[in-house]
Amino acid sequence: MRKYIYFDEISSTNDYIKENYNNLFDLDIVVAKHQTKGRGRLSRDWFDNSNSILLSMLIKPERDILIQLIPLVASAAVYKFLKKYVEDVKIKWPNDLLLNGKKIAGILVEAKYLTKLEYVVIGIGINLNDERFVSEIENKATSLFKVTKQKYDSTEMYEGLSDALRNEYMLFCNNQSDFLSVNRLNSAVINKDVLLEVDNKLKNVKVLDILDDGTILVNIDSQNKSFSSGEITLNKNYIEKE
Ligand code: BTN
Repeated sequence: MRKYIYFDEISSTNDYIKENYNNLFDLDIVVAKHQTKGRGRLSRDWFDNSNSILLSMLIKPERDILIQLIPLVASAAVYKFLKKYVEDVKIKWPNDLLLNGKKIAGILVEAKYLTKLEYVVIGIGINLNDERFVSEIENKATSLFKVTKQKYDSTEMYEGLSDALRNEYMLFCNNQSDFLSVNRLNSAVINKDVLLEVDNKLKNVKVLDILDDGTILVNIDSQNKSFSSGEITLNKNYIEKE
């Protein structure tokens, strides 16, 4: 198996896989030093200064998989990878990794269905050697460098993350992954009062649990309900430790 396909510059590693999936294999990984059209969730842009890990993995499932679990499998893989370097990593359901309350990584999962599930792309961006961020996100974002004051070799980091992601996904396929408990035990939101965007409105909710189907169970308007997607905003004073 190829370790990964590398580009100095590309529009987006997710888009490359989506455009070329017919010629790529299950578990192929594409990485780039810089993306000119990096994309985040909810149609947002994902900017980088050539200091990040930008990586996407293709899944060509032979049988149907529960697609809504894939973001949590990826979160668990990124969590385990980051924990080798830093403490206090938290997972903000379903797709963000936080370090000391600030975002260090994001995950964008995209899938294509024709008559069946054709492919899934897991895209991961991790802030690695960034020394600063643009003012709009300076208070919300962090990098491994900012926390540990060390610079990291990007090749080593690509390889480490590729191994972690492939490994977690293969464990998931064999029902051996502990991704749900990793997500629950290291959640930034369980037992917290947060804002959840529901039908374009922000609602105050208390997060109770992450259920086995990957949905989040919250108390909303005095009722317990589960949601399969949604943007969670943490309370402003969430940042517990600098
Ligand atoms: C988010 O936090 O909104 C998700 C960000 C995902 C960014 C990664 S970088 C590699 C891959 N290629 C993209 O265009 N996006 C993902």
